[in-house]
Amino acid sequence: MTTKTPRVVVIDDSKLKQAFLKNILAQDYTVFTFSSVKEALPHLESIAPSCFLMDMERPGEDPVSSIQSIRSIPSISEVPIVMITSINDVESEELLLQCGCDDYVGNRFAPKVICSRVTHLVELYGYRKELEKRVEEKMQSVMELQDAIMLMLSDLVECRDTLTSGHARRTRAYASCLMKQMLAEGSYKDQLTNDFVRDLIRAAPLHDVGKVGIPDDILNKPAQLSEVEFEAMKRHTIIGAQAIRHAIMKIHDNSFLKILQDIAFTHHERWDGSGYPLGLREESIPLAGRIMAIPDVYDALVSTRPYKEPFSHEKALSIIKKNIGTHFDPLIGNAFLHCEQQFKEISQTYKDM
Ligand SMILES: [Fe+2]
Ligand SMILES: [Fe+2]
Repeated sequence: MTTKTPRVVVIDDSKLKQAFLKNILAQDYTVFTFSSVKEALPHLESIAPSCFLMDMERPGEDPVSSIQSIRSIPSISEVPIVMITSINDVESEELLLQCGCDDYVGNRFAPKVICSRVTHLVELYGYRKELEKRVEEKMQSVMELQDAIMLMLSDLVECRDTLTSGHARRTRAYASCLMKQMLAEGSYKDQLTNDFVRDLIRAAPLHDVGKVGIPDDILNKPAQLSEVEFEAMKRHTIIGAQAIRHAIMKIHDNSFLKILQDIAFTHHERWDGSGYPLGLREESIPLAGRIMAIPDVYDALVSTRPYKEPFSHEKALSIIKKNIGTHFDPLIGNAFLHCEQQFKEISQTYKDM
């Protein structure tokens, strides 16, 4: 494996000093020279340097805004900057460091000092980048593992619940579509962060995880449930939430598990307080549960159940529309009305599959 030689950018208005610095660094680095930050800026992203060596006293450019303009480019904002300076008072030194300069050397430097400072910072920068890359790779693999476990668990739930086949995966697709619409409309934008949306999409297939605790004769009864049986069925919200609570007690501050618990516990709550298990009202129902209510009901309406034929999309649409403000959160219900055609397409896609 070949390792790319680190790149150093030298910025100095003196061509003589540029050549001198290039000469002492060329053995270990690929060196790019510029007379000013203004001249260097358009090239910096493609150069991708590992260190800057910059003369502080350049005509027409003050050091503070020079550092700021380099730091404003996201891909190189953390690249170390070494200033070559004639300053020797404490205030100026402090100001330089406060502005984001990583180190400085005096004008009368020895070549070995420059090489050693640059090498030290380039190595540190390399280690930091490598560490960030490894953390990102680990995070990615944890996410993939989490995804695989979620799908495996939802498959297990569906194995037991033979009457609502495919419900878990379809609700995931509907939830994703609904949240895209909410984002476009700016609904609950403070809560609907990228992480929230990602976690809810991944948790959605498990909203009915508590059904594993419901007896077979109720879960798979090929007819409408009696009142007593329906009361037992309602417990799937509590059973699911309790199982997830045990996981939360082991892993504190896990936003994904919190969302999973919210949807398992509250996807049957209703905006007007007539839902279950707690009869929560309006915004006391967690946002994740209020969102999940629509994919869950829509899918039940357009699917076959032992006690009913599948409703058409139009009928499901009119039922949901009628229940906005009673069963469903008005903002989320309206977002559904603006993307209902996509719900229809998703239901068609899954039917074809
Ligand atoms: Fe449910
Ligand atoms: Fe459900």
